[in-house]
Amino acid sequence: MHKSDILIIGSGIAGLSFALHIAKERPDLSICILAKADKAESNTRYAQGGIAVVLNKLTDSFQQHIDDTLKAGGGLCNKSVVEMVVKKAPERLKELIEWGVEFDKKENGKFSAGLEGGHSQARILHHQDTTGLEIEKKLLLYSRQFPNVKIFQHHFALDLITDTNHSVCYGATVLNQKDHTIDIFTSRVTILATGGSGQVYKTTTNPTVSTGDGVAMAYRANVAIENMQFIQFHPTAFYQKGQSPSFLISEAVRGFGATLVNKKGQRFLFDYDTRGELATRDIISEAIYTELKKSGEEHVFMDCRHLDLTNFKTHFPNIYSYCLKVGIDISNDWIPVAPAAHYQCGGIAVNKKAQTSIPNLYACGECSCSGLHGSNRLASNSLLEAVVFANEAGLHVLQTIDTFEQPTNFEIESVREQTVDSKRINEIKNEIQTLMIQKAGIVKIQTNLQEARQRLIKIENIIFSEFKGNAPHTDLWELKNLLAVAKLIVSQSLQYITKKETLTKHNKQLYHSL
Ligand code: FAD
Ligand code: SIN
Repeated sequence: MHKSDILIIGSGIAGLSFALHIAKERPDLSICILAKADKAESNTRYAQGGIAVVLNKLTDSFQQHIDDTLKAGGGLCNKSVVEMVVKKAPERLKELIEWGVEFDKKENGKFSAGLEGGHSQARILHHQDTTGLEIEKKLLLYSRQFPNVKIFQHHFALDLITDTNHSVCYGATVLNQKDHTIDIFTSRVTILATGGSGQVYKTTTNPTVSTGDGVAMAYRANVAIENMQFIQFHPTAFYQKGQSPSFLISEAVRGFGATLVNKKGQRFLFDYDTRGELATRDIISEAIYTELKKSGEEHVFMDCRHLDLTNFKTHFPNIYSYCLKVGIDISNDWIPVAPAAHYQCGGIAVNKKAQTSIPNLYACGECSCSGLHGSNRLASNSLLEAVVFANEAGLHVLQTIDTFEQPTNFEIESVREQTVDSKRINEIKNEIQTLMIQKAGIVKIQTNLQEARQRLIKIENIIFSEFKGNAPHTDLWELKNLLAVAKLIVSQSLQYITKKETLTKHNKQLYHSL
């Protein structure tokens, strides 16, 4: 059994920045971070565009960033959370820089700010087109300065340990993927920072670790989960048949002037929104979906040929070289692009201090639902949300940790990981992913969702009967987690559609009675 004061599940931007706050203030507290793969493997590592922060008060304002976020979120954001996050952004940016993260600057020494869809101003700070990698590397490096922070790589959290009423969390059961043993990690406070769930879908920009484990674990522990119907699709993932995850062509490339065209070379986005290529992701993804339905094609194209090549290579060296590697010279060729599942806007419900419905269990980053994003996240607001909420959670934990006791010893049956039929697990996983893209993807309609729900119930029975009695195994656990998240997406989508219909009916009745 491993004992620590604080157990953090996840070593992306949310988990690491939370750990750093505590480690600095309380060197006496032991902090244990779990990562299910290599410690750097995460959604954070692949973030491209950057982090949204209002810095230039002459051309921009907090109010404009707030308005852009609220508009992108379709009227479903929590306004006071949006205000908090936007206003705290400069402070958190300063801290990231203090921790060693470098952001690109212009020749005059000022930060170079990019533009992305839905933003009324250029306010995205970035490190070329590998902002996430820079953040991940620097936070991991900085964390080495704190002897009270210990990272356990290849440690897969299976389930939270709670009391029978789910009113207190004692830590988690954890599978050590190297020696195949199952252990208990106890703590006074636990933080879920497990990232997203893009792997529920066949096409996604998310790496294979993003299987929604935190949401599934929390759900099994009766913790409130919200807004899972709002899965954001990024409009411009590089289209390569059968390739998953898809390589992302950053929204910042459209902010830089790239256009989207159909196979005849015609731009079509102005038919859907006056902002054209700079409309929000939900609008552009749905527009592409509609165009592809009409044409029967599998992708549209991004045209970068008119852009200044030297400048492009300076801003987007990673995208430029990836395209070249797969045979696309962006100065001559169009890039084939299509939408892919990208971001989970909902998740584990948290308050402004990142507390879940269990008081000593926190959640932050992509696995959480803070109210910032509403139905559709504004580009580059995710890294920002993670650092703001990690800080708020940190402040709260520092105030309260001494009131939480270390749980007493637990007995654990000596169980080892058991081999599974990974080929069969993969087949079932594939079926879930295909079902979700076909029936619960960009456009969600009731009949499709009902079909998905029926099929998911059948798949659940299949898993239960084929793997009954199997001891935990990463592949099997991920499959169960994917299934749990898929079911949540489908059921919350159906609830949302019904609620919307009732509201529309109610509004119509109200209108007629006036
Ligand atoms: P992650 O960074 O995903 O970290 C999750 C951690 O949890 C990992 O360490 C993982 O190992 C661990 N974990 C998960 N399950 C378990 C388990 N069962 N046991 C143990 N450990 C576990 N957002 C922006 O704001 N700007 C961008 O430019 C941007 N670009 C993006 C580009 C791409 C390609 C992608 C995929 C996302 C992008 N996003 C961007 C979104 C953003 O990167 C993520 O939302 C954010 O990084 C999530 O951080 P996180 O710390 O919550 O989770
Ligand atoms: C991108 O670079 O397009 C991704 C930005 C984001 O997800 O916020």
